[in-house]
Amino acid sequence: MQVQEDEKEEDQEKDHHQEKNSLLRTPPSPFPNPGGILESVPAVSLCGYPRRFMTSLGFTKDIFPGGRWLVCRPKDYDVRYSINPWMNTAVVPEKALAREQWGNLHHHLLRLGAWLEYVEHADGQPDMVFTANAGLVRGTDVVLSRFRHAERRGEERQFRAWFESNGFKVHEVKGGSFEGEGDALFSGSRLFCGYGFRSDAEAHREAGKLLGAEELVVVQLQDPRFYHLDTCFCPLSERLALIYPGAFSAQDLALLERHLELIRVPEHDALHFVCNAVVLGSNVVLPAGCPETYGMLAQRGFTAYPVPLGEFIKAGGAAKCLSLKLEQG
Ligand code: ARG
Repeated sequence: MQVQEDEKEEDQEKDHHQEKNSLLRTPPSPFPNPGGILESVPAVSLCGYPRRFMTSLGFTKDIFPGGRWLVCRPKDYDVRYSINPWMNTAVVPEKALAREQWGNLHHHLLRLGAWLEYVEHADGQPDMVFTANAGLVRGTDVVLSRFRHAERRGEERQFRAWFESNGFKVHEVKGGSFEGEGDALFSGSRLFCGYGFRSDAEAHREAGKLLGAEELVVVQLQDPRFYHLDTCFCPLSERLALIYPGAFSAQDLALLERHLELIRVPEHDALHFVCNAVVLGSNVVLPAGCPETYGMLAQRGFTAYPVPLGEFIKAGGAAKCLSLKLEQG
């Protein structure tokens, strides 16, 4: 038995080296690869090493300049209730198309150097694909979300289990609701927080303290269509952010402007969720159909990678909602 085990291990070792060597000889396919929709968790990471080998090394910024993110492959994604103005149970997502759009987003993140972690989609929690709402992470600490709506509360247990089994120290806010990175975005050690629809200002202050944020910038969201901060605001660097000004009061805009230079996106692009962007260094993966914003990004030295996400916009989410930042690139 022991011998067989050893042999098996040796074979695996051999496979591993062969896989590694052949992949090192074969350069990865040129990017972008529009046909390259990945349907399952890839066995091989971007750099050509098997994922299980890379996992044993841990996340490395040099190898994964796009950072480390948590995603959830859509298995039971749907619109079965309405908890924001985008959700209409009579206009449900087309499941196969949603899977394809998610696959394409996933492909772009991998190709741009992201290290992805996967949480299993629990049945009966159709919004669980929006992992930005799992919590807010800093280092190995996470403040778990407490959802405003009962419809999403079942996700809390699922996300907690994932964080605990992946070595995170899980914290909770004592009062109010808190919807994680949907409403709280780090830019360096400064935390930008939005309250009013889903999260409470008090919960943000508690989360900021638990995670050791150096400074909190708390603003009130004004427009129910932009009910999470990440639907109308996106830090691109420690100095620059995308913003839809219509979602904020003049006073809060001035407050944000004290900390960041703001790239103001037009309403048309905002309604296509252009601020719901995943920033991987100077590359930005964001919803399709917003050429004006792509142009403004290009002027600032960013490359926009538009991806169609219409089936997720039916639930009120897009690229950023579908990913939670675990570690920065
Ligand atoms: N249907 C989900 C909800 O209303 C969408 C969540 C979008 N997530 C986000 N981070 N903006 O809760």
